[in-house]
Amino acid sequence: MLKDKIETALNDQIRIEAQSSQIYLAMASWAETEGLGGTAQFLYKHSDEERMHMLKLVQYVNERGGKALVPQLSQPDRSYESLTNLFQTLLNHEIMVSGEINNLVEVCLNEKDYTTHNFMQWYVAEQIEEEALARTIMDKLNMIGEDKGGLYLFDRDIESISLTVDNTK
Ligand code: FEO
Repeated sequence: MLKDKIETALNDQIRIEAQSSQIYLAMASWAETEGLGGTAQFLYKHSDEERMHMLKLVQYVNERGGKALVPQLSQPDRSYESLTNLFQTLLNHEIMVSGEINNLVEVCLNEKDYTTHNFMQWYVAEQIEEEALARTIMDKLNMIGEDKGGLYLFDRDIESISLTVDNTK
């Protein structure tokens, strides 16, 4: 049985993962309407991954005798100034998520819930990868700057950027 504090913390994390999925879905849709097909595909996939992160938590809470709460979400931004602006927002968001995961891990230790602590290690590892991927993308975009040819190639190649990182799983 989950302690109340742990159940609340896990439900907070469910909301964060669901909101992440919603934000990346909005980013994908914006990219698609801007003619950035590769970026859109990358972000649709990223949105699906966040939904999977949420679902894992929902099922874990219910399996442990808690009640997972499906949250209300807020409206994500509808447009971005540029690709760099979009991916900087994504990186900042992932840094925030990592902080929240760390807080949750701390709650697990304080409450001596070693089962949930163990469960959360998957998220800790996932955040390292997600932040690394977002930083790699930002490095590339900073190198490209405003160069249209470079941005064209970036959009064409972004799916293979994600595959390269995914292969290490
Ligand atoms: Fe599920 Fe990107 O945090």
